[in-house]
Order: sequence, then C-alpha cells, then structure tokens
Amino acid sequence: MDANTELRILVTPKPPIVADELAHIGAGLRFAENATEYLAALRKDYGDTFLLDVFGYKLFCVFSPKGLESLYALPEEKASFGFATFDLLSFKTPTELFLDTDLNLFYQLLVKKQLPRYLAITNSVLDQELNRWANFSELEVFDVVRTLEQRIGYGLWICKEAASDEYWPRLKAQFDVLDQEKAFVDPAQTLHTLKSNKAGEKAAIAAIRELLTELASGLDLDNSDDTLAYLYRHFSAFDGEELQRRVAHNCINTNQGFLSNLYAAIAWVLVRLLQYPDVAGKVREEISATEQQFGSQWRSNIDALDSMKYLEQVLMESVRLSQRSITLRKVLEPVEVETESERYTVNKGVYVTTLLSVKNADTEALSAFDPDHYEGNRLKPELTPGGKEQVSTFGHGKHACPAQKFSHMMCKTVVAAVLERFDLKLLSRECEPSSRQIGGVARSAEPATIQLVARSA
Ligand code: HEM
Repeated sequence: MDANTELRILVTPKPPIVADELAHIGAGLRFAENATEYLAALRKDYGDTFLLDVFGYKLFCVFSPKGLESLYALPEEKASFGFATFDLLSFKTPTELFLDTDLNLFYQLLVKKQLPRYLAITNSVLDQELNRWANFSELEVFDVVRTLEQRIGYGLWICKEAASDEYWPRLKAQFDVLDQEKAFVDPAQTLHTLKSNKAGEKAAIAAIRELLTELASGLDLDNSDDTLAYLYRHFSAFDGEELQRRVAHNCINTNQGFLSNLYAAIAWVLVRLLQYPDVAGKVREEISATEQQFGSQWRSNIDALDSMKYLEQVLMESVRLSQRSITLRKVLEPVEVETESERYTVNKGVYVTTLLSVKNADTEALSAFDPDHYEGNRLKPELTPGGKEQVSTFGHGKHACPAQKFSHMMCKTVVAAVLERFDLKLLSRECEPSSRQIGGVARSAEPATIQLVARSA
C-alpha cells in the first residue's frame, strides 16, 4: 500500500492530506526544525484540519474551535493521553520507567492539605539556593531557576535531606542525564540516545536508585511525612526488588513531571518583569500590600499567596506566550472528531493533535504580552470568541493540569523571594520562547542573562 492510500483509510471521510515529495521524512524534518512555524504554514495551505505524516507518525491536526472542543472531549479509553505521552517521551526515557508509573500518584501527592508542608520546604530550600545566587553577579535565568526548582523538587518529592548540599548536586548530575527537554531540541543527542540503547539514561536511573536507597535508610519509613517514605507505604503490597524499583521509578517520574513546565514558567515571569517595568511596578505594589495584610511571614501563608491575583495573571500570560506543548491523543479504538464542516472517524494508530503555540497568539490582541488579558487565572472570554479551547495554558478537559494551583503557589513564593533579595537587570536583548522546542513551556531561544545585585536588608 502506498503512503497516500494508507493515510486515506486512517481517517474517513478523507481529510486534507499534507503532500510531501519524500513521504514520512520531508514533513518530519520540517516539523523537527520548527514545529510551530511549520504547522502555522500548513494551516494556511490546508485549513484548520489536516492529516500529516511525521516520520511515520500519523498526526490528525485540529485547530478550529469545534475541532479543538472535540479533541479535549475524547475519552481516554479510546484516544489515550497516557499512551501518547509514553510514545513521545520514550525517545529518551527508558520504557521500564513508564511501565511502573502511576498517574494517580500526582493527584494524591497534590492534595490541598499537603500544600502548607510543601510551602515550608520550598521556602527553606529557596533561602539556601538564593544564598548561592548571591555569589554571582550574572546568571542565566533559565539555568538557575531550573536548578532551584530541581533542588526544591528533591526536597518535596524525595525528602528534606535530598535537598541538602550533600545530596542535591549528586541527584542533579543524574537527573540531568534524563532531561527530556533536550530530546526534542537536539536531534544529534537523541540519535546518540537511541544508538546506545539508552545506556546513559539506564545508568542514571541505577545511580538515582542507589541514592534513594541511601536516603531511605535515614528515614522512619512507617511514620515520616517525606514523599519517599510515603512511596514505600504506597507500594507496600510489593517487596524486595519490585518494591525498590516501583518506589524509585515513581519518584523519578514525579520529579520530572514537577520540573517539566514549571521552572521555565517561573523563569519567564522573571524575564517579563524585567522587560515590562510597569508590570514589575504593579507586582511590587501587590507584594507590599500582601505583606501589610498578612505580616512578614506571608510567603508561608497559602491565603496570602492565593490573594495575589495580579502575579497570577502575569504567570498565566507568560505561560500563554511560551507554551510549546503538543496535545496528543493516541487513538486505540475508532473515535469521532467533529469539525465545523465534517464528522470524521479517526482509526486506530492515528494521533489526534494540536500544538498550543500555533493558536495561543493567533489574533492581534493575543500576540501582545498583557497580564490584563486574564482575570486571575481566567482568560477574558472576549479574547476567544470561538471558545475557551482556542487558547491553552494548563490544558482543558479531563487531562487539564492537576497542579495549576500548586504552580501558582510556587511561582508567587519564588518570584517574591527573588525580588526581595535582589535588584535584577536583564542583559540579553532578545528573549523570546524557542520555537524548536516541542512539549512544555519553552525556554528562551537565546540565553537570558540577568545581572543581580543583592539588596540591603
Ligand atoms: C506552569 C506550570 C505547568 C503548566 C503550564 C502545565 C501544563 C499542563 C498541560 C497543558 C497539561 C495537559 C496536557 C494534555 O492535555 O495533553 C498538563 C497535564 C498534567 N500536568 Fe501540568 N503543567 C504545569 C505544572 C505541573 C506540575 C508542577 C506538575 C506536577 C507536580 C504537573 C503535572 C501534570 C500531570 C500529572 C498532568 C496530566 C493530568 C492527567 O492526564 O490527568 N504539571 N499540564
């Protein structure tokens, strides 16, 4: 069967099919080079719905209001987020890690009653890490916020000791080998990963397992409120090697999930505040007002953080413009996808998809940075007359991010602490989200260097 006939029977009635001189490869190379630009150009030629073959992956792309509404409503049993994520991430991550992981754990770990404890750990690590920042006069903001978030993550999702000077650099050295972000920006590195059968990544997992065993030996696993101890209790139906493996794999997955969008989002908030002094002025006023209302320990108070609606808007707006997430559902059983003009049946093996960066800044108003596009975390409805799915930050429907509130809390605490400690200046002129990145909130395409001067107490 030739490539075009194969594509035609995957979706009925026949949608516009992207033609390519070199089946699978041509589109694949253009997609890898700059997915946002490529899909935006295809929309001009083929409209808001089309079928595209990227290196043999059949992507049924939807961008119209009805198409997007339909995508976000697809049932997991038939069009799976889980399987699609597995396919996307398994270019880099050893598959045995996913076989053990349990998405429900995120929901259990993110329950509201744990937030005050998480906040206390965050503030403690934040103080230590900002003391380190004080040794430098210039820093690359995405790198340092990433390290900060990694270290906070070790405190939150392993145990407090894991964030100590003795452990965090050793953990970071191994977690960096597993960094999924690089898999999509550096094809040479991905090739190396695949050619070596993920040898480096497997070795990193083994090294992290050893560190976790060492850390666990210092915990009272029956009573400690540290996440590592919780994981041992959660998997207590297993023992021996299987218990150790499940605990380690889920612990690694939680740390990676935590890091994937949040650090870049917080780094963008800092960059935007430096690019837009009027916005920074309003944020500083909000911080002062919050401190006045809730007292000097306000950064440890959930109600105080919740009350900061303007900084929340700055985060939402920063995420909106730097989102490069691909929403991907792998079809396991035929599903119906409705658009304004057709009702398509999409068959097994196809991915129903959209790329957030193509639509998130699609109108004149949406192309500009303005935190007042939001009221708190809600985009003003007049900006998306076609429907709320036209823009996505934390997702829509049943797979929408369960960590939105938590992410706001983290962002407000970190940004306020940084502004409290330092006067910052952005030295890099060009700071815009990378278009090469696929998946998650993108870093800046070029390094974003900041100058920092410690403020006097
Ligand atoms: C600014 C920060 C974040 C942004 C912008 C963000 C964005 C998103 C988006 C767009 C989705 C939906 C994906 C889809 O529909 O295909 C999602 C899902 C998810 N996010 Fe986040 N996320 C953030 C932070 C986090 C953090 C910190 C965690 C973990 C601690 C997390 C865990 C998850 C999980 C587990 C899902 C899947 C939910 C499900 O399928 O039921 N996210 N996120």
